[in-house]
Amino acid sequence: MVNTKREIERVEALDSLHRDVYKSNMAPYWAIDASSDHDEDQQVMDKRKAIPFSWNYENAIKPLLYRSAELIKMENSERRSLVLVNPGLAPSRATVTTLYMAYRLNDPTEIMPPHRHSPNAIRLGLTGNQNFTGVEGENIVFGPGDLVLTPHDTWHNHGNEGAEPAINLSVLDLPLAEALNSLHFEHDYTEEEEGVIVSKRMQSERFCTNYSEQIYGQGGFLPRFVSHQRGTGNASPMYVYRWEQMLELLDRYKDWEGDPFEGILIEYVDPLRGRPIYNTMTFFAQMLRPGEQTLPMKQNASILLAPLEGSGYSMIDGERFDWAPFDTVAVPGGHWCEHVNGSQTDRAILFVASDEPTLKTLGFYSKFGKTGSGEIVRLDR
Ligand SMILES: [Fe+2]
Repeated sequence: MVNTKREIERVEALDSLHRDVYKSNMAPYWAIDASSDHDEDQQVMDKRKAIPFSWNYENAIKPLLYRSAELIKMENSERRSLVLVNPGLAPSRATVTTLYMAYRLNDPTEIMPPHRHSPNAIRLGLTGNQNFTGVEGENIVFGPGDLVLTPHDTWHNHGNEGAEPAINLSVLDLPLAEALNSLHFEHDYTEEEEGVIVSKRMQSERFCTNYSEQIYGQGGFLPRFVSHQRGTGNASPMYVYRWEQMLELLDRYKDWEGDPFEGILIEYVDPLRGRPIYNTMTFFAQMLRPGEQTLPMKQNASILLAPLEGSGYSMIDGERFDWAPFDTVAVPGGHWCEHVNGSQTDRAILFVASDEPTLKTLGFYSKFGKTGSGEIVRLDR
């Protein structure tokens, strides 16, 4: 109890010290008592934090995409992306702490000019069979479910070669690059023509059609007569992963037991080194068989789920998030999460993005599961 003159003076002096510390753009980090005003650990934890959240494709994303395509033309802007902003992180363009997910609609035959940037990115086709991405001279035409890489600092241009509008989503590690103060963009693409540097709106094609599949499309075999140094060498040299191949794999494993916490989970990997396609983020296809329900899992990696087939829901710390094709659910690290395929007859397939490689590289990664009997077990060791 504060009852002596000396104690009263000390409290006043402490209040004055705290005011002066904040005024000087510093913060106190010392424990004086456990009251909420002075629980410094809690204050450090209470900073802006991503929350579990979902975005509905049919009712929210799709109508806004079409309205934006109506109003934002290539003459006005070189890009037209709708970024999913986590309410816990707004106004930062971040869907979870380290990653952002954006949706894009490309009008028929629209190809944006080349650019490059420090964040790594992937694009995943949702609709349209002729989405286009040119990356460092490899022209990739892709459809629903195909995954295309545009690694950091590689020149790339996006568009649509088809006669119908095409929608795709992208995932970038941009919020991570931003936090590390390492963000940069370049839009001035040039090539050398007969000794003269000229600006170009399209990259000249330097690789044959389906180069990535031809060189890297069969696991376990590596052609030695081409260079595998592509881009900066920090990413998978295979720039497109076809959905058809993934579906074949998922089908092959459909009667396997799978993992009780993750179902049938297949990671996209760098075919040269067997590691995630980027140092910062990794991607999976996750299949839940009809009626399948995973056991609760908690990891400190943050994930983004985009269902591509089927429907169901995820329970995140007891809160239910329903999902259907092309929705996105953000599951920030640190929450118990389990998935339920809502159908007894149809499979569900989720596309999953995770910042797991970042946490693993830094030695921070942890993953726990809750068994059927309620026991908590560590899964990352
Ligand atoms: Fe880009």
